[in-house]
Amino acid sequence: VKALRWHDNVLELLDQTALPQSEVWITCRSAEDVARAIVEMKVRGAPAIGAAAAYGVALEALSQKHLDMATIRAVLDAALSRLAATRPTAVNLFWAIERMRNTLHAPAPDVATLVQNLVSEAEQIAAEDVATNRAIGRHGAALFDEPVQILTHCNTGSLATVDYGTALGVIRALHEHGNLVHVWVDETRPFLQGARLTAYELNREQIPHTLITDNMAAHFMKLGKVDAVLVGADRIALNGDTANKIGTYGLAVLCAYHNIPFYVAAPLSTFDAKLETGDEIPIEERSTVEVTSIAGKEIAPHGTKAAHPAFDVTPHTLITGIITERGVIHRPDATRVRAMLGVQ
Ligand code: MRU
Repeated sequence: VKALRWHDNVLELLDQTALPQSEVWITCRSAEDVARAIVEMKVRGAPAIGAAAAYGVALEALSQKHLDMATIRAVLDAALSRLAATRPTAVNLFWAIERMRNTLHAPAPDVATLVQNLVSEAEQIAAEDVATNRAIGRHGAALFDEPVQILTHCNTGSLATVDYGTALGVIRALHEHGNLVHVWVDETRPFLQGARLTAYELNREQIPHTLITDNMAAHFMKLGKVDAVLVGADRIALNGDTANKIGTYGLAVLCAYHNIPFYVAAPLSTFDAKLETGDEIPIEERSTVEVTSIAGKEIAPHGTKAAHPAFDVTPHTLITGIITERGVIHRPDATRVRAMLGVQ
């Protein structure tokens, strides 16, 4: 399974809104095409939208390579702003945009070289993501020395990254090492990333799993059927507070009550060194139609008022560890996160 593929200077995205019913690849030829795909959640998941945005800048550069240096830089600055305005919470998006901005404004002898540098930087961001996820998988799998039952939320797999996944990457690594008994897949209301995407990935790889509705998690924890919860992240503050898909915070509270380890798996690009605590993380508000309807069918009386924060913030005190490509931050707090990031 792959979320995106880049070939012959074109970006193709597997339309995640069409899964699991159909596998439709859409072609992006401009930054605007990519921006729209991100807004419409055709591509989603923090690392995947970062990589897609980087390719969006590369596409725009390729299509504008006839312009002079000053003009192409201005056009691409506008493209960067457009891409930055798509989704507010996942910091990987802004991290990738910043890398592309630095490449855009680095000295280049001519426009052809500048365009090539931007394409190479996007390819580099994508390649790094795969290596990063493999390392997260290794560090995460090493936390468990006997077979475990894992509960996960949302989709953090190959579809949410460039390949392999973060929390789902750890689950893949556990499976590869013969240390995975079973995965409980939260359906993840309201957008159903768990039911539609995580179940799709696990199904294709024949990793044993059972789909549950989000409100069943406590029940299975009480029955002793969950040994650990593994989730991804969209933005982590310097004290370890973590924004992730709505419902994550509730799982962390349940884990504390049931004495179950709660792990976050995320690359270092998901940390926001500008934010001291999770209170400062912007939370995306999405259309309430995604709450009042399922697959285009209204499930509440027409006109019912609904709310749709797409993410919540889990306080660091509820997190057993954050698994990064550099190792695990056990019992994360401001001191330990800063030490891992090398920030004063
Ligand atoms: O709204 P989404 O589907 O983009 O949200 C995705 C998540 O919350 C993931 O857990 C997070 O981005 C990490 S993906 C490796």
